[in-house]
Amino acid sequence: MEKLEGKKILLTGASAGIGVAIAERCAAEGAMVFLTARRKDRLEQLAAKINQSGGTAAYYQADLAQPANIDALFAVAHETLGTIDVLINNAGFGRYQPFLEMDFTIAREMFEVNFFAAAYLTQKVLRLMLDRQGGDIVNIVSLAGKNPVPNLAMYAATKYAMRGFFESLYREVRQHNIRILNLYPGTVATEFFQRSGYPEPDQKRVLQPADIAEAVVCALHLPRTATVSDIDLRPTNP
Ligand SMILES: NC(=O)c1ccc[n+]([C@@H]2O[C@H](COP(=O)([O-])OP(=O)(O)OC[C@H]3O[C@@H](n4cnc5c(N)ncnc54)[C@H](OP(=O)(O)O)[C@@H]3O)[C@@H](O)[C@H]2O)c1
Repeated sequence: MEKLEGKKILLTGASAGIGVAIAERCAAEGAMVFLTARRKDRLEQLAAKINQSGGTAAYYQADLAQPANIDALFAVAHETLGTIDVLINNAGFGRYQPFLEMDFTIAREMFEVNFFAAAYLTQKVLRLMLDRQGGDIVNIVSLAGKNPVPNLAMYAATKYAMRGFFESLYREVRQHNIRILNLYPGTVATEFFQRSGYPEPDQKRVLQPADIAEAVVCALHLPRTATVSDIDLRPTNP
């Protein structure tokens, strides 16, 4: 089994929902987690909570819609962590609305955050992983990256883009001992629904953020000879 203890993890979207759960779970296993998102107060609170409970966390506030912020994020994370063993691309947002109402400023921002930020950050981190001939990249995609969803066409497009990109990249880098996991969750009880305008699910019946964290950690625990490249994670009884 591969241990998370001592691993250096860079995690995006760490101020809420799935990101918080992944940060807490990985830190509890002894990983050093470097957190990023826009809401600094939340990052500060989460890092303090992890550090007070014996874990190790640091954070950097960044809006990933701007590539220059990703340059700065990577520089600070690299300096703080020394190296990056695991990159978790989790930040993302959606808009639930008929396509004719879609504002293309928002559509482009969605592609910047959900797709280009993940790809650009991956390019930076991959250079370190190639130097060391090893590393893990985890992408929180969505079942909307496999199944068409009406009124979420632009969001689905960003997730289909992630899927095509990271599945191709995996085949390019696996011979360097780099594992890439694409995780496709169904509905998860987070703020995503209030923020996207998507009809609110029954929060108790859908996936919980901790379920996603569990799946990520299970995959990372596998011996390095084994890669889980794709996980579809659905609520058992929605
Ligand atoms: N909830 C679901 O049902 C579900 C299902 C499948 C996949 N997903 C995916 O799971 C990931 C996490 O979503 P969630 O459900 O945990 O939603 P959430 O609670 O709304 O969290 C989204 C995270 O992304 C960050 N983020 C959004 N825009 C950003 C920006 N411009 N720059 C930097 N960070 C940004 C947010 O931080 P700030 O706002 O503080 O910047 C927050 O930390 C997303 O990629 C989402 O598409 C969610």
